Amino acid sequence: MISCKNITKSFGTLNVLKGIDLTIEKGEVVSIVGPSGAGKTTLLQILGTLDKPDSGTVSYDDVNVNQLKEKELAAFRNKNIGFVFQFHQLLPEFTALENVMIPALIGHARSSEAEKKAKEILNFLGLSDRISHKPSELSGGEKQRVAVARALVNQPEVIFADEPSGSLDTKNKAELHQLFFDLRDQFNQTFVIVTHDEALAQLTDRTISMVDGKIK
Ligand SMILES: Nc1ncnc2c1ncn2[C@@H]1O[C@H](COP(=O)(O)OP(=O)(O)OP(=O)(O)O)[C@@H](O)[C@H]1O
Ligand SMILES: [Mg+2]
Repeated sequence: MISCKNITKSFGTLNVLKGIDLTIEKGEVVSIVGPSGAGKTTLLQILGTLDKPDSGTVSYDDVNVNQLKEKELAAFRNKNIGFVFQFHQLLPEFTALENVMIPALIGHARSSEAEKKAKEILNFLGLSDRISHKPSELSGGEKQRVAVARALVNQPEVIFADEPSGSLDTKNKAELHQLFFDLRDQFNQTFVIVTHDEALAQLTDRTISMVDGKIK
């Protein structure tokens, strides 16, 4: 479904990615592990079309995303790709419900449709009594679940998560990890998760180890 070929990326004289080849299938939960500075986040950003490689290609089925113009790429990303970051990155001025609705509204869903969809997902994630709270009124685990709901709202092909449980305690961490697998089992949702958490990496279908800009 997603494939990248011979991806390279440098920042100035620093060669961060040194030729990455990778394929991710629909419904897979893949983890990416490796030491700090190995290039994990850089690779995730490139796979997620938030950044461009210096060379190489990223394809989703038969779409080569390198060939999309900026506007087309933004629309493609909104429709097909969800992100969950280490620190939720919810918008503080908006409620949980509004935060989850935003990607749907950006994708030109009608407001009533976006609201219905957002409520369904928040409900599924056990957050139905938190929908009118703002991020500052939610616990860390709840904020991350809202972030997952936001990533899910447009039913993307894939969700990229960069150390999604990095800021959570043991219990919330375990719950968030279980949620990824529940979503895969119920909706065949694909996940690519950068993690330092050995326990999570062991649960995933496949672990990709990166060292110094290469896959080991
Ligand atoms: N925008 C940038 N400009 C310059 N250097 C960068 C930039 N982004 C990343 N780097 C450098 O590229 C290297 C890889 O960074 P990256 O964030 O991909 O590592 P990582 O594997 O995600 O590490 P961590 O586990 O600490 O998050 C690091 O040396 C980092 O300092
Ligand atoms: Mg990183």
